[in-house]
Amino acid sequence: MTFAHITGWGMSVPENILTNDDLSKMVDTNDAWIRERTGIRERHIANEDQTTASLAVEASLKALQVANLRPTDLDLIICSTSTPEHIFPATACLVQDRIGATKAGAFDLLAACSGFIYGINMAAQSIRSEAIQNALVIGSETLSRFVNWKDRSTCILFGDGAGAFVLQASDMPGGVLSAVMHSDGSGGDSLILEAGGSKCPATEATVQAGKHFIEMDGNEVFRFATRVMAQATRESLEIAGIELDDVDWIIPHQANIRIIAAAARGLKMPLERFVINLDRYGNTSTASIPIATVEAVEDGRLQPGNKITFVGFGAGLTWGALTATWTGPIPSERKVYPRRYRMWARARSFLLRVARFIEGLIWGRNS
Ligand code: ACO
Repeated sequence: MTFAHITGWGMSVPENILTNDDLSKMVDTNDAWIRERTGIRERHIANEDQTTASLAVEASLKALQVANLRPTDLDLIICSTSTPEHIFPATACLVQDRIGATKAGAFDLLAACSGFIYGINMAAQSIRSEAIQNALVIGSETLSRFVNWKDRSTCILFGDGAGAFVLQASDMPGGVLSAVMHSDGSGGDSLILEAGGSKCPATEATVQAGKHFIEMDGNEVFRFATRVMAQATRESLEIAGIELDDVDWIIPHQANIRIIAAAARGLKMPLERFVINLDRYGNTSTASIPIATVEAVEDGRLQPGNKITFVGFGAGLTWGALTATWTGPIPSERKVYPRRYRMWARARSFLLRVARFIEGLIWGRNS
């Protein structure tokens, strides 16, 4: 029997920090209000050279380094994002090219803030079915590019960043134990980026009307989130056959401390068993769960053998939870250096473009 283990992890956040005090100079708000209503103190904001793909590449290379896996060993790359580099091509394909993952299939997944849970579940299912051996799951966002910086009800919430996990097949029991995924499209309007898609293509009027920014009914999303977090956690644990008391860490989507506190009350669990870092990153959507996980591993809270549940909710509406035994890298004699593949990947990408250009010259444009 094959199991899917999380064997590598990495995160990348922009260096630029935007504090609540900085925001109070941009819109009518203040540090006390933001901290009291959300728990957020500051967030990281991409500079003009940083994009969803560039943050994803950094996080991915770190995850491959921890897993001690070459990019060429990857069979699948899933990039969960609501702020892709383009509508197409998929951001996952850009990452595939930049890290030199020559064997990997790659696609984007859009389930908003629940996307990372959906992505790990998809990768784990592919591994358990023995269709693939090694997968890279990325959550990456540059929400700052889609935030209306004049709207105080949304601009205070979001931040940029990326996190990535490597999942690998092993016959050792453990790894991803269960997952639940849910959706309710009837609530789609409550958190929406309306224009730029096929229903409402970009025009001067859509730009003027601010339809390319995130719009949210905060209270409605809040009520929905507090309803589903505890429920999804319980469902996932029941499928995994694990009691709440045996869970070491709940790693929730980092949207609002009050939502996490409501989930803790609903589960009758102390808040100390939740990994929380939203004070320093804000809501990085699908990147928030992997970023919180990486921090918990790096500061020693999360240890191999720990039982964990990821739980999240987001636009769609979507929500879900996933329970796993935390593994760590699979021991191996060989030592690999994933970063070294970048130079080679760049050269390969360049040569492929040149070959495509020459092919175009030889065959002509329309033949
Ligand atoms: N600063 C100061 N005052 C503010 C601000 C602000 N930034 N924003 C709103 N207010 C005011 C409102 O105008 C309102 O004033 P009024 O009473 O005079 O009308 C008052 O504060 C209360 O507003 P509420 O919207 O009721 O504030 P609430 O306590 O509900 O907090 C918030 C709003 C933080 C948005 C909350 O509803 C929330 O966190 N919702 C969930 C959002 C979420 O998680 N979204 C992400 C989903 S994940 C994804 O898919 C991307």
